[in-house]
Amino acid sequence: MKDTGVSLTELRTRLRAATLRAEADASDEAVADLVPALGALERARERAARWVEAARADQRSRPLVERMLEQFPLDSAQGKALMSLAEALLRTPDARRADQLIAERLATIREAGVPGDTDLLLRTGFTLLGAAGRLLPDVLGELAGEFSTASLTRPVIAPVVRAALRQSMQLLGHAFIVGQTIDEALARGAADPELSLCSYDVLGEGARTEADAQRYFDAYSQAIGALAQQAAHGTHARSGISVKLSALEPRYTLLQSSLVHERLAPRMLELALQAARAGIGFTVDAEEADRLDLSLDIMEALARDARTREWDGLGLAVQAYGRRAPLVIAWVAQLARESGRRMSVRLVKGAYWDSEIKRAQERGLASFPVYTSKAATDASYLECVRDLFAVPEVIYPQFATHNAYTVAAVLELAPPGAAYEFQRLHGMGEALYAAARAEVPHLPPVRVYAPVGTHEELLPYLVRRLLENGANTSFVHQFMNPQIPVE
Ligand code: FAD
Ligand code: 2OP
Repeated sequence: MKDTGVSLTELRTRLRAATLRAEADASDEAVADLVPALGALERARERAARWVEAARADQRSRPLVERMLEQFPLDSAQGKALMSLAEALLRTPDARRADQLIAERLATIREAGVPGDTDLLLRTGFTLLGAAGRLLPDVLGELAGEFSTASLTRPVIAPVVRAALRQSMQLLGHAFIVGQTIDEALARGAADPELSLCSYDVLGEGARTEADAQRYFDAYSQAIGALAQQAAHGTHARSGISVKLSALEPRYTLLQSSLVHERLAPRMLELALQAARAGIGFTVDAEEADRLDLSLDIMEALARDARTREWDGLGLAVQAYGRRAPLVIAWVAQLARESGRRMSVRLVKGAYWDSEIKRAQERGLASFPVYTSKAATDASYLECVRDLFAVPEVIYPQFATHNAYTVAAVLELAPPGAAYEFQRLHGMGEALYAAARAEVPHLPPVRVYAPVGTHEELLPYLVRRLLENGANTSFVHQFMNPQIPVE
């Protein structure tokens, strides 16, 4: 393992210094680290290709969202209209503005032209109108013929269209959330074997007020209480929770770091203590790059809490697209050693890529905290896989991905007998893991990240999922599309 024996303080200094490190240096290091594993990676490539072919042979498993995004790619005018409607409609409270928004967006779709070979429902602008469409054939007939503002805002039609579109947006929400409350989610989990092992995420981020933060704290606390009742034994065999620090502190920014220590650390200590008593996993999600340093302060406070030392459920998500990723892993491993506990790391690629790039550009930074090429992120991910497998005495690795090649590479890089798990997001990755399970009899457990919450709280999460499902470079975007060569 690189950086073993380096103190926590020194690793932190290196981490800070590496925030905007040169992309070529970071990716050269990742690639050099992988050279000894090239044979294994070639085997992974062949295996992943077989899974893709197997999944493509069964197109019935294609999620609705994926089909929708294929018709309306997010880099097209129609896709942008769809995205902005999805983003804005659920939180547009008054009817007049909602009607104007719908009319404007659907007109954009019409002006840009709609794909000729699509069915009637798609021609209205949304595959999602399908469900509403079954209820409202007349309205859809009207919409399909005319997208003008005049027709949409006619007194009789407008409320019906508005309700139909709102309902459609809620359907989109349902694709990604497991329930509006933890009890609803657990009831669904009890009936669905795919949801037997979860990390429940109480939807919510970017708390704006103290009251918001308190509400999210109560929701997390209630979720932990409910999860304490599980029958399974061992933290890693039970469902746990995922926490976003931005939900628990309205001033979660570097500029307010003293407030964060005063208010957020005690809240997190309390929740971690509850999770330890409940014997469940407690993972801190990774958010924006700017917040990494603060999140490490909180992790350190949690890890140094002697009351929970025997518990192995404390975990952190690490983003491989960050140029500091291997240093973060070295830091977590050292923290676990120094605090005398085992921790877990969920390795992800990173869900905030578009906003990281935009923010760095707005600030006129000389470089970016994240890689700018997908291949570099992929190499960094595999470098981190190797780093995690090198420290089994202190870290339980959790590999979160929907990419067939990444899953196959993890299997190849895993030392014999290694204990670890895969993770996927609810609403994504089912077909991939089904294909992998069919070929690999002893596939490690696959945990589902399962968001719980109402549609009002869904938006930031939904937008990240739409960007992910719609991005051309994204694996899920290409996975089931037979037009795209498996290679
Ligand atoms: P792939 O298609 O192989 O990878 C897509 C990813 O590659 C993008 O998300 C981005 O990270 C990267 N990428 C794309 N284009 C570029 C480019 N031009 N330059 C550099 N990199 C690029 N994300 C978080 O940020 N925090 C979390 O806490 C978190 N938790 C997750 C939990 C689970 C269980 C899962 C499955 C995912 C989680 N994610 C989280 C999302 C994750 O970061 C990825 O966005 C998502 O999984 C897509 O990666 P992939 O390996 O599945 O797919
Ligand atoms: C996100 O919220 C899953 O944490 C990840 O996008």
